[in-house]
Amino acid sequence: MLVILPRFHLIEIEDYPWCPEWLREYAHRSLAAVWRTVGLNRTSSTAAQVCDVITANLPDHPSDYHFVDACAGAGGPTPIFEEILNERMLAEGKPPIDFLLTDLYPDLEAWKAIVAKSDHISYVEKPVDATKASRYAARDKKELRIFNMCFHHFDDDGARKVIRSCIEESDSFMLDREMFKLMEKEGIDTTGWKFTDGETTVLPPFGKIYHFIGTKE
Ligand SMILES: C[S@@+](CC[C@H](N)C(=O)[O-])C[C@H]1O[C@@H](n2cnc3c(N)ncnc32)[C@H](O)[C@@H]1O
Repeated sequence: MLVILPRFHLIEIEDYPWCPEWLREYAHRSLAAVWRTVGLNRTSSTAAQVCDVITANLPDHPSDYHFVDACAGAGGPTPIFEEILNERMLAEGKPPIDFLLTDLYPDLEAWKAIVAKSDHISYVEKPVDATKASRYAARDKKELRIFNMCFHHFDDDGARKVIRSCIEESDSFMLDREMFKLMEKEGIDTTGWKFTDGETTVLPPFGKIYHFIGTKE
């Protein structure tokens, strides 16, 4: 959900199946480093600031959710989310949150290193296309799908399919782009859903997160 500029639909070389694996991994691992960066005049990392946005916007306690990172790349902010949020769950006497990494191009080497360090992160080994993803949360959990720094990969048709999949299969989703207009245009039925959106400067002066969070009421 971190963007420097408003939405553009951009083609990136790593979106193509013919992109060499080493180049895709390099691009994604560089992004993972951005999440650990602490900006000027900030006391916590970019990912930590996003944790606050998430918890402030979820209608239910974060421990009620299973977090699914739907375009996880090399893991993005998820290991940091896990550490910060589960420290909070422990302090509050709440059950830990489970996190799942999925991607169209799973970075298994990076993900194996991540899950080796946490009992609460797992991954789906085979490619998962976010435009037609099925539900992964356990029956007693709500599913929160998060899309970090990835919505520029989807054209309007892809974005519509992602949102439709979220609305049909999940309980909550968080994107890096305000999507009201597209949902209206595409006639997506959002009855029973509530939406919030906003922006926060996380890496001053230019690095902002734009959030658009949908939650089932
Ligand atoms: C710019 S990277 C962001 C990675 C990570 N979220 C982060 O913040 O570091 C975008 C990711 O979206 C994934 N992606 C693109 N299209 C996808 C699709 N249709 N389904 C699932 N993942 C997709 C790419 O493989 C890539 O890992």
